[in-house]
Amino acid sequence: MSLNFLNQLELSTERRNELEPRVQSLVDLVQKEGLVPKIEQRAEMLAEILGEPHERLSNLFNSLSRFFPDLPEEQGEHCKLMYVLTSVIGTKLDLLKRKGSSSSFGEDLKRIGYAGFLHDIGKSALSSRLIQRIDEGVYLDREYFELMKLHIITGYMVLSEAADLLDKGKEESGSYLKKIAVAVACHHEEMGGFGYVGLKGEEIPLVSRATALVDSLLAMARRRGYDPAIPPEEAYQELYRCSGLPFDKDLLGECNKRKLAAFEKQSDYRERLVSMIQRNTKYGQIYPRDLDISYTDISLLDMPALEEVYLAIRLRSEKQFDPNIVQAFRDYVSKNPGRIKKLVQKKVIELI
Ligand SMILES: [Fe+2]
Ligand SMILES: [Fe+2]
Repeated sequence: MSLNFLNQLELSTERRNELEPRVQSLVDLVQKEGLVPKIEQRAEMLAEILGEPHERLSNLFNSLSRFFPDLPEEQGEHCKLMYVLTSVIGTKLDLLKRKGSSSSFGEDLKRIGYAGFLHDIGKSALSSRLIQRIDEGVYLDREYFELMKLHIITGYMVLSEAADLLDKGKEESGSYLKKIAVAVACHHEEMGGFGYVGLKGEEIPLVSRATALVDSLLAMARRRGYDPAIPPEEAYQELYRCSGLPFDKDLLGECNKRKLAAFEKQSDYRERLVSMIQRNTKYGQIYPRDLDISYTDISLLDMPALEEVYLAIRLRSEKQFDPNIVQAFRDYVSKNPGRIKKLVQKKVIELI
């Protein structure tokens, strides 16, 4: 089995050579950490679950929840929401495809929700202590951060290995699962090239672009530690801002002013700014790869420098999401409120 998923993408030789070392260093770390037996065990478990007939999707979800036995129930809830919302985008993109737009996911676009559901399955092959730290909002030092990044590789390996197991002795191929494996490997990429691996724009699979967007929307809608959940309208403005789409600057400006004023009134303004920067860097989307500071040095910066870094992060995030997908999602939600209501529970509706 090839561990390097870059071979599955349509990349120029130059780009592949450029990105290869980053993926290879993660693959090496997976081996060094001794995660391969756990990955194989998870792959067998997944193949067994997917091989059983499931009359209802909820049964399948319940079976899949076994992947996160040590984690808070919230993780399972998050995966279900990911399924529903990425499926919504898939339906919309499927319609566009039929109107002539192309998609490398082809007929399997309908199964895009599986990529949403399984996006973080790689975490099940990491230690649960590490995952809990992240979920509790404990900021990661550089070492933890590198370990966290491994979940894109472990996820890819679990899924592609499960696809091989399912294909064994069968005429019908489970190749859609292989596409999902690649999509999962790329779910932390950003349009501007500041993701884990550094893929840019259309180099990133369409499904991964959709998954990344929904994941961020849900992250904003959820309360984490001291940070309150962001109301839907503000979350949309943020999606627009991060996709280069025209957004309501007045509304966003108001939100920012309100937030900053609230921060400034607090005596821990400086700490809040540091933690905001660290939060934005901890998953690596905006890791200061091209800023000349290391993760741990952030707390040593003086106030003007801190504000400058924060601004740089904000600017860079303007090329995070695919504008077409943001537009498709918003479009679908506004035109099909009834359908959405049927698809999701009440508490999900409040998010969108
Ligand atoms: Fe992830
Ligand atoms: Fe997620």
